[in-house]
Amino acid sequence: MREDINNVALDDKTQAIPFTARLMAHYRAKESESENPLLIDPYAEHLAGDLTDYFRTHGRYSKMDYGIVRSHYIEEKLLKPWCHQEDESQIVLLGAGLDTKAYRFEPLKKKKHHVFEVDLPSINNYKNDLLKDEKSFCPLTRISADLSALNWMDILLKNGFQKGIPTFWIMEGLVYYLEKAKVSTLLKKINEVSAHRSRLFTDLCIPIYAEIQIGPFSKHFKWGLEKDKICEFFAQTGWKVEWDWADSHDQGRDVGQKGLYFIVGVKKI
Ligand SMILES: C[S@@+](CC[C@H](N)C(=O)[O-])C[C@H]1O[C@@H](n2cnc3c(N)ncnc32)[C@H](O)[C@@H]1O
Repeated sequence: MREDINNVALDDKTQAIPFTARLMAHYRAKESESENPLLIDPYAEHLAGDLTDYFRTHGRYSKMDYGIVRSHYIEEKLLKPWCHQEDESQIVLLGAGLDTKAYRFEPLKKKKHHVFEVDLPSINNYKNDLLKDEKSFCPLTRISADLSALNWMDILLKNGFQKGIPTFWIMEGLVYYLEKAKVSTLLKKINEVSAHRSRLFTDLCIPIYAEIQIGPFSKHFKWGLEKDKICEFFAQTGWKVEWDWADSHDQGRDVGQKGLYFIVGVKKI
């Protein structure tokens, strides 16, 4: 399976979006070996694989602070307090890609947390293969499903997700790859199965990012939202959200010049 994804990822359109997961792993690997890392991911280099060919023609994308700042924000500002305050919780990573929080994020060892990772079969097969000998810090369920299809929630429910337990839904670099209407459906679905106190994180871009489509990520973006429409869009799906520019949390890095939002929500009562 590893050979499959290595061979097709660069030019096969069906693999182009899962390939962004390998790029993210590459950025985490680079960050881990830097002087003052915002995060350390000991699995990232292995998971990213050999991207020499890709960077030979896409050298200017060999570093990306935005994804690192986003992961740091999610882990330090959101999940760390959540893991301490909730005695029992579920953390669902939608579009988990090659994320390794379940294997390296120490707060997961505290209390009773269950991580669910949902992504497309190709990336999950690749990840299962490369991490087969590693042990996660807490119960971990990896689910292969298309989040733009209708049945993924049934698969989640059949695989141990419990409606009565507070859940933190993490959509880290996901929603702009799905059609806006599909995201609306997804947000309503996760709301329906969410216990009281459940929360969500997503990042999102302004519309122009999806229109100009440059670089390995935004060339696949399908939509973005004006800032004055954010709260209303999420409210219609059952979530009360607050948003901020990613720049406000930049840790001194270059994160996208007021084009990207960090959005945090809680289930409306
Ligand atoms: C930019 S990567 C981010 C991965 C991970 N969250 C991270 O930050 O490293 C986007 C991920 O979303 C996943 N994805 C995109 N569309 C999807 C879909 N329809 N169903 C499931 N996963 C999807 C891709 O396979 C990929 O792993």
